[in-house]
Amino acid sequence: MRAVNAPVLANSVPPTSGPPPAVAERPTRIVVDLDRLARNLRLIRAHVGVPVMAIVKANAYGHGLVPVARHLQAQGVEQLGVAFVEEGIALRRAGVTAPVLVLGGIFGRQVAQFIAHDLEITVSSLDKLRQVEAAAEALGRKATIHLKIDTGMERIGVHSYSARGFIEAAVASRWCAVKGIYSHLACADDPHSPMTLQQLERFLEACAHFERIGAPMPLRHLANSGGVLHFPGTWLDMVRPGIVLYGVQPDPASRRTIPVEPAMSLASQVVYFKVVQAGHPVSYGATWAPPRDTRVVTVPIGYGDGYPRSLSSRGEVLIRGRRYPIVGRICMDQFMVDIGRDSAYNEDEVVLIGRQGGEAIAVEDLARLAGTIPYEILVGLNDRIPREYRGG
Ligand SMILES: Cc1ncc(COP(=O)(O)O)c(C=O)c1O
Repeated sequence: MRAVNAPVLANSVPPTSGPPPAVAERPTRIVVDLDRLARNLRLIRAHVGVPVMAIVKANAYGHGLVPVARHLQAQGVEQLGVAFVEEGIALRRAGVTAPVLVLGGIFGRQVAQFIAHDLEITVSSLDKLRQVEAAAEALGRKATIHLKIDTGMERIGVHSYSARGFIEAAVASRWCAVKGIYSHLACADDPHSPMTLQQLERFLEACAHFERIGAPMPLRHLANSGGVLHFPGTWLDMVRPGIVLYGVQPDPASRRTIPVEPAMSLASQVVYFKVVQAGHPVSYGATWAPPRDTRVVTVPIGYGDGYPRSLSSRGEVLIRGRRYPIVGRICMDQFMVDIGRDSAYNEDEVVLIGRQGGEAIAVEDLARLAGTIPYEILVGLNDRIPREYRGG
């Protein structure tokens, strides 16, 4: 996991400011392969044949909001999507100029910030439409909006069956430019779920109201990764992939219809070696003890980095091309690995996500072992872990 292509550390400082910060010395690294990210984007585009809104919320699914957004912009991605206005502002402050839609529900007090930073607004009720209009009028600048229709999530959005008045009000608005209309799929990860086609039907019925009233049809977008992978009918005018863009499958039931590859790997180094005698328990709570004398190494990463504690005595790592179990409870900053009678030395590379020799550990594997979804593993890896960017 050593850098080959002049890696860029996300938290590095300009060369004029002296020695690198201490955090750069940390052996634990997330490496993001920007070439893979670009390739995944190309594969998705080729598959769907419509523009892509790349979803970069939650620190670009743990890959680093600004470096990922910059790279996707350089690849000509049509649009970016984030969850919160502050994520959009961070992109603008970093010089990202691509169109950015904020997907989350808004508060009236935030509208001026949206407009000031040229961020597109999700309008999810008549009430919020009025708030956006009032703020835009007060500023004397039009707001760019996407109407959110609820077709089955029962989250934010106007129910598809009562969207007509909402659409009419948005079209009539003097201070809002309706750029898009969208909804979100609840079950598209499962290629066999009947819910997706039902949601598509409801969405198209709502959109048809633009034609009925003789208004121009805005951009219709519906497909998340599940939609992109399994339901061509949902691709419409633009798709909104998140997890598949990073090369991870949304669900064990998902079909690999696009040969994307993971952009993230995570590795550390052995920091300690010892022999643990039979019956001597390892880590907090003394929940695991070896049945015979064994060799145990310590790895300096823990739940304080967002590596899930639920992988205690369940997770696996790769050392010297072999797979070994995590034993005992994962601590805040370290965990222990049983290497049996094998050898490992201080500073040996420990792969937590990614490949080593002929072996690989995927985010999907960790999610299964931790009893969660790959999304939670990715976004949980926090900023204490330095990110290194290769390629691009
Ligand atoms: C509105 C919306 N669109 C698209 C996405 C991307 O989803 P996925 O990562 O499953 O592709 C999300 C993520 O939750 C979302 O909330």
